[in-house]
Amino acid sequence: MKVDGKDMRPIWFDTASKTVQIIDQRLLPHELIIKDLTSVDEVIGAIKDMYVRGAPLIGATGALGVYISLVQKNNRGTDNEYLELECNRLKDARPTAMNLFWGVDRVRDVVLKEVSYDARVKAALTQALEVVEEEAVNCQKIGEYGLPIIEEISRQKNGKAVNILTHCNAGWLACVEYGTATAPIYTAFDNHIDVHVWVDETRPLNQGSRLTAWELGKHGIDHTVITDNAGGHLMQHGMVDVVIVGTDRTTRAGDVANKIGTYLKALAARDNNIPFYVALPSSTFDWSITDGIKDIPIEERDPDEIRYVQGLLNDKIQSVLVPPETSPAANHAFDVTPARLVTGFITERGICKATQEDIMALFPDKKI
Ligand code: MRU
Repeated sequence: MKVDGKDMRPIWFDTASKTVQIIDQRLLPHELIIKDLTSVDEVIGAIKDMYVRGAPLIGATGALGVYISLVQKNNRGTDNEYLELECNRLKDARPTAMNLFWGVDRVRDVVLKEVSYDARVKAALTQALEVVEEEAVNCQKIGEYGLPIIEEISRQKNGKAVNILTHCNAGWLACVEYGTATAPIYTAFDNHIDVHVWVDETRPLNQGSRLTAWELGKHGIDHTVITDNAGGHLMQHGMVDVVIVGTDRTTRAGDVANKIGTYLKALAARDNNIPFYVALPSSTFDWSITDGIKDIPIEERDPDEIRYVQGLLNDKIQSVLVPPETSPAANHAFDVTPARLVTGFITERGICKATQEDIMALFPDKKI
């Protein structure tokens, strides 16, 4: 996507230096810093500390991480035990997003088919870059399939702005291009449909107010940052036409794990008869489970992410303490929205209802 006229992605392979490079998302929107990833330890750190975040991007980073494991200093060449160890370390970086396991395993599996070191390195890079490109195309298709939803609302409103509420950052920064939840929004905007986005700030790390607002602003899309608690009020007053969110893991029966607070938006949407869509590439489905509340591991992060708030002060990014120094805090990073609250899934193969029957009809090739 374009940032100040320049094409940008959150991750890429620099062919000149043969290095994986990323945007350090911790510092956005105030600083745009690029970092190199040259070892598995650096990749794990970047995922854990959320230099890179968002399910599809974590998957792409994990995929490139397997390539890095083969070329980093002190690599152990064609040693399979070493490869498994590094892959397992990558997969342990964050527990909720399905894409991480999917991306790492996909590259690992092609590497294991090659015998020589050079062939392994080549296969790893080719496959990892395929993952990156495929996710970009998948998100573009999500945009195309999601467009009619926004078009129809716009038609019903006689061309007045369609108000879309989104939670967290499910934009291109969280993917490779277009985003998941934002893909239909970008596509609608590019097709001259009047849209306005309510951006949940998404405490504690403010992926909404820092990242979604930045992305939308750079694309010229009208948006307003709101507190995480405002959505229900706006819905009661007819100020939200549709909710579109992303997901980190969705079961084959349609239960959706996404950033903490998503469930409350789904409840409010249902109470106010507002459609609640989840946009995702198939790499985010966990085909092995049906019960999201029981079976999706929910990450618990450092309570300091809640206790401290980061922002720009005197031209410097700084952190300030909010609660009393001694008050404990609990940082559950995701929640699960049951399938019954989801109007539909927008995927790279089209839209389906949030039922096992409809999901599997769209993805019959995904064996259980
Ligand atoms: O903790 P994060 O920032 O990695 O969480 C990201 C989300 O919850 C996104 O909504 C999700 O990955 C959507 S897919 C683009």
